[in-house]
Amino acid sequence: MSAQDIDKVLEIERVSFPKPWTRGMFESEIRNPISFALTLKVDEGGEEKLAAYIIFWVVHGEAHLLNVAVNPEYRRHGYATILLKTVLEQMKQSLVYEVFLEVRRSNKAARELYYKLGFKESFERKNYYGDEDAIVMTLVF
Ligand SMILES: CC(C)(COP(=O)(O)OP(=O)(O)OC[C@H]1O[C@@H](n2cnc3c(N)ncnc32)[C@H](O)[C@@H]1OP(=O)(O)O)[C@@H](O)C(=O)NCCC(=O)NCCS
Repeated sequence: MSAQDIDKVLEIERVSFPKPWTRGMFESEIRNPISFALTLKVDEGGEEKLAAYIIFWVVHGEAHLLNVAVNPEYRRHGYATILLKTVLEQMKQSLVYEVFLEVRRSNKAARELYYKLGFKESFERKNYYGDEDAIVMTLVF
């Protein structure tokens, strides 16, 4: 993800989450040395479209997935799966041993996606989002 992607990322972010990240949060992740911010772009009739993005941190072999979203126009096409599988494979090769994330209890789509990729539900963080609990999901390589 580069600074030029942020306008499009924000459009997707705002229709994807009840409490979307701000521009400043994305800008700060791009600068953060422990953060990886990646986009998935597709070619649509010669035009490049931003289909999905992902942000995660890696600290001492532990990865924390902070944000992932797919442009609503491109959902259910397997893009989140492709992006996550690619990132998980790169993590494995970089000797990451564990990946964890928080997901809203009500977010069935995301929980199902992570479950299919091998994540297990570990525990809950009560009222993590202010209006809902988070389920912490973990994948150990
Ligand atoms: C969750 C999200 C990232 C999935 O992206 P996607 O590219 O549509 O996902 P995929 O096409 O790779 O789907 C993989 C599997 O996830 C599950 N899944 C995805 N969307 C689903 C939905 N709306 N309902 C139920 N299951 C769903 C299915 O098991 C799916 O496999 P299938 O299509 O073979 O049935 C996307 O819906 C999104 O951006 N949501 C808003 C942001 C968000 O919730 N991010 C996660 C925060 S923790």
